[in-house]
Amino acid sequence: MPPVTLEKRNGIALLIIDNPPVNALGHAVRAGLAESIRAAEADGTVEAIVIASAGKTFIAGADIKEFNAPPQPPSLPELLAAIDACKKPFVAAIDGAALGGGLEVALTCDFRLATPASTLGLPEVKLGLIPGAGGTQRLPRLIDPAAALSMMAEGNPKTAEAAARLGIVDEIIPAENLLDVAVTFARQRAAEGAKRRLSERTPASAERAAVEEAATKILKKRAGEPQVEAIVRCVRAAFEESFKDATRLERELFLQLKENERSKALRYAFFAEREAARKPQVAEGAAPRPVKQVAIIGGGTMGSGIAIAFLDAGIATTVIETDEAGASRAAERISGNYQSAVDRGRISAEQKEDRLSLLKTEVGLDKVGQADLVVEAAFEDMAVKREIFSTLDRIAKPRAVLATNTSYLDVNEIAAATARPEDVLGMHFFSPANIMQLVEVVRASATSDETLLTAIATAKMLQKTPVVVGVGHGFVGNRMLARRSEQVDRLLLEGASPSEIDAALTEFGFKMGPCAMGDLAGLDISWRMRKATGRRAPAADALCEAGRLGQKTGRGYYLYPDASRKGVPDPEAETIIQAAAEREGIARRTISRQEILQRLIYPMINEGARILEEGIAERPADIDVIWLHGYAWPRWRGGPMYYADQMGLATIAAELERLSTDQKDESLAPAGLLASLAREGKGFHS
Ligand code: 3HC
Repeated sequence: MPPVTLEKRNGIALLIIDNPPVNALGHAVRAGLAESIRAAEADGTVEAIVIASAGKTFIAGADIKEFNAPPQPPSLPELLAAIDACKKPFVAAIDGAALGGGLEVALTCDFRLATPASTLGLPEVKLGLIPGAGGTQRLPRLIDPAAALSMMAEGNPKTAEAAARLGIVDEIIPAENLLDVAVTFARQRAAEGAKRRLSERTPASAERAAVEEAATKILKKRAGEPQVEAIVRCVRAAFEESFKDATRLERELFLQLKENERSKALRYAFFAEREAARKPQVAEGAAPRPVKQVAIIGGGTMGSGIAIAFLDAGIATTVIETDEAGASRAAERISGNYQSAVDRGRISAEQKEDRLSLLKTEVGLDKVGQADLVVEAAFEDMAVKREIFSTLDRIAKPRAVLATNTSYLDVNEIAAATARPEDVLGMHFFSPANIMQLVEVVRASATSDETLLTAIATAKMLQKTPVVVGVGHGFVGNRMLARRSEQVDRLLLEGASPSEIDAALTEFGFKMGPCAMGDLAGLDISWRMRKATGRRAPAADALCEAGRLGQKTGRGYYLYPDASRKGVPDPEAETIIQAAAEREGIARRTISRQEILQRLIYPMINEGARILEEGIAERPADIDVIWLHGYAWPRWRGGPMYYADQMGLATIAAELERLSTDQKDESLAPAGLLASLAREGKGFHS
């Protein structure tokens, strides 16, 4: 099947794009469209042209995969120039997503019809790009230019209805009639001689002040994002320059941004997310089981957060506690969370009631009843968890999925407490569980394919990003994080201050550094865990022993005067850390920002390499997605394994060798996989 077909109906040329999966505007589609447009223009019996698509997407935009290779003609701007030069009217018949270059095609047409389920947007900004085929010029010439600027800077698609309100869509048409209506509509417009070429318009100059006001706000909020600055430049050019000159500027900026490392990393992240979402290796015919009722064991912060995620997805949820007081605390926590969402205008009072009507809080494990999925979010202790699972084994309905939300423990050992280990796996949510997107789905050795697929489907139902991982202490994310935490403590002892450590990571792009984050979460959490596992972190241990547990005690790594949430450097913390360093016999010195950064990140990458070697994660992209969605790794840096490839594995291996010698720690030496890839001059992704 050619990617573009031309059919003639009643004097109208109907061009249908059929390029699965999403009708991206790859070279073959561009060439096919150019050819069909030439044919339709030359055909004296054709009065107008309709552009439509097969499948459930109108056009997802340019083919992002082509961006890493030299462009092949016709380019998208050349194709759109051919539409603009054609004397016959064009109608876009949109059914499904019209995104990026897809919307730019539609904007070049004279008229736009869309089905109610369609979405329209210019999301290039999320890939570190700007619309590069006239979008920055045509949209402000069609709708309120300030609204056009916001739409491009945010990149979020609009529903057909919202797009119609803005003036992007002329009419909304039921999907079943779209092509017939489009053909009739095109005939009428041709008969009227109606054409509406946006390239011939100028934006409403009265709106210039509003555009400047919006631009000031956007530039302040999105400082440091070159693509946002470029969008603002292009919209300003729409007022100041001719269409031709302004589109030339747009194209120049687009091509520059395409080569920018930030855009490359953002494009990588887009594909990594899709790779991680692929179905894991399972037997042919394996399918997920339906999940209609859920029970959560434990209504603490984590259990309540998980319950909210299920309630938000419209799933009946029972939260089970050990006593009445615990059950009412859980109920209060959940309804309090919804009340604050109402107060902040995020949901209506009615939505709150709807969601709470799906919630039950109960006492006693026997209340799991007929739940299709049980998520255990009890205390992080193997004996506690084994006891819960052995009870669940007796009382949960046959073939219910039994998931543990453990962050570190051995899921095989938990599964062994039951006589149905095939139904057991880990679903590791991240706090706050109703907000964080990541779920590590932990496949234990006996987990069945159906159980695994059910957990994945459930996470997707919650609008979350599931990544399949294997059993191992801390799975993927926390295991790598532990290596960073070790270095934080070591750096403090060697003389780096909490603010220097935090600044190294915030300058790198994280929203928060590890010391500020530790203070926010409470330093006692990891202190307790270290004590339970016989590990030490001399600086953090000393702070905890001095009663400095973070924000909740008004002091931790930082001081929080007058219950403020913003910490300030505290000489007392410095003295405590210095004393700890003396006890450890560690000499203190000034440590450069670069050394701090490398020591925080390279050992994590090394652990990522071991995780790949051991098969705990299947692909480097899985590790990157875990860090993007569970640990707020800056998206424009792709993820730790992607970043490693950009730095060069040989550089990282050399630095790890040095660290391992300095710290007399064999575990810091380059992992086998990292060392061998470095020797071959390869990266994790090549
Ligand atoms: N180019 C190449 N491949 C694309 C693509 C694109 N623009 N959009 C999606 N795909 C691929 C995905 O990688 C995936 O491939 P896989 O099956 O091999 O993993 C497949 O299409 C299906 O994609 P999704 O899994 O995302 O499918 P959904 O149905 O969930 O979502 C969508 C569909 C809403 C269209 C979503 O894919 C999407 O948002 N795509 C990107 C849209 C975008 O950013 N467009 C702008 C591109 S840049 C541009 O147009 C520049 C121009 O201004 C010059």
